[in-house]
Amino acid sequence: MPRTTIRFDYSGALADAVGSRNGLTPRQWRALRTETAGIVRTINRNRAKTPYRDLPTRGDLSEINAVLRSARRKSKTRRGDRGRFDDVVILGIGGSALGLTALRTALRPPFWNSLSPRARQGLPRLWVMDNVDPAEFAALMEIIDPRRTLFNVISKSGETAETMSQFLVALELVQECIGRKWRDHFVVTTDARSGILRPMVDAEGLESFAVPDGVGGRFSVLSPVGLFGAAMIGINVKGLLAGAAAMDKRCSSTDFNANIAAQGAAVQIGLYRKGKPMSVMMPYSAALKDVADWFRQLWAESLGKTLPDGTQVGPTPIKALGVTDQHAQMQLYREGPNDKVFTILSVKDFGCKVPLPDAPRSLQGTEYLRGHTMKELLKAEEAATAWALRLSKRPTTRIIVPQVTPETVGAILYMLEVQTSIAGEMLGINTYNQPGVEAGKQAAFALMGKAGAVPDPKAKGLPARFKTYQLLRRSIARGGV
Ligand code: PA5
Repeated sequence: MPRTTIRFDYSGALADAVGSRNGLTPRQWRALRTETAGIVRTINRNRAKTPYRDLPTRGDLSEINAVLRSARRKSKTRRGDRGRFDDVVILGIGGSALGLTALRTALRPPFWNSLSPRARQGLPRLWVMDNVDPAEFAALMEIIDPRRTLFNVISKSGETAETMSQFLVALELVQECIGRKWRDHFVVTTDARSGILRPMVDAEGLESFAVPDGVGGRFSVLSPVGLFGAAMIGINVKGLLAGAAAMDKRCSSTDFNANIAAQGAAVQIGLYRKGKPMSVMMPYSAALKDVADWFRQLWAESLGKTLPDGTQVGPTPIKALGVTDQHAQMQLYREGPNDKVFTILSVKDFGCKVPLPDAPRSLQGTEYLRGHTMKELLKAEEAATAWALRLSKRPTTRIIVPQVTPETVGAILYMLEVQTSIAGEMLGINTYNQPGVEAGKQAAFALMGKAGAVPDPKAKGLPARFKTYQLLRRSIARGGV
């Protein structure tokens, strides 16, 4: 089997493993196979409605080649081990940030930003700023040298207050320090035509990339949204896309045994319907910990919805990390409510093992570790956790990853995206919108004094009685809505 092939083991989620109350019975499993096969056929037929599916294979990949050319130009080493930029700062939030964070954690050495420029081969540090915590943002502005920093502003809508506020601060800083050449320090990734950033890009002649049409933030990691920053820090973008393209073939198969996205959705939604509304993703690999963070947003924002008849649906994603969270969450997972389904991300080859040395004579009680490696300990803990979960009848699946490489990471991300699409169909919801985010967003605009009437308050998520932001603002200030 090639070392890039991801496997999915769902045996621990079946009734055979955890009993018919907590696992899927043969009858339920057969019904889920039929249901998901039908959905795969439908989403294959309607592929144009899910443009994220084509990101790894888009035509001549001209946008991606432009991304790679630009990143190559910008990270070119000029002297010694120093590239043109010491720092790349991503200004974006939600789907504009989480994918790239996952890529950096998975595919660059740990502690990337703390390595010396030589160890980074002259490539820049990468900061993904997905918050407007003033202390954090101000601290970053202190650390970086604006003359040697590239900012990538990422916002599909350009209307996101967090990203725009970061942009304003960075813009002022760079303009003050650099003057006329400030434009060389910004790359904007936004909608090709609409939104408030595009006119600025055109007016100022800024370098920009397009968020592909119809691709929402949380499905955009394999577009310039995730790939420009990835290329800037030397991640093999073509490998990522190749892994995703290979997974696309598997996820398009109507043969349930070949389609691990369908299997994943069947387990997750099958068990959700059986009273397991929580879904824990637990990588036993620090490199994959931010994949769980990225997945948390993908799953939550895509599947947490209200149906037209008022029914509220959606599994709650939880991220955990093996072994760390064995010492934080495992008590709850084993003895608390049996309302969770577990997904362990299991890596076979870490690229190193770290032998455990002999203990000094003065240290008694650790002899059992002698002759082993840290990798053996991690794998023993992973196997022991899976066993213990099974003992308490907690349904558990494993995504088995031969090695964390661009190809396997591209494949995992893509598989989880398609799993989300299939799960959305099973729940009968619109997977690609996020109406629930709007009300808070509009209220924040109101509190910040954004002027003007809301043309269609309902569509914008505002209760109809708030005809203007000002009315809403006054109401919030009074403490009610
Ligand atoms: O997944 C999504 O669609 C969201 O999380 C968005 O990415 C997030 O709200 C940021 O939006 P924008 O890219 O328009 O700034």
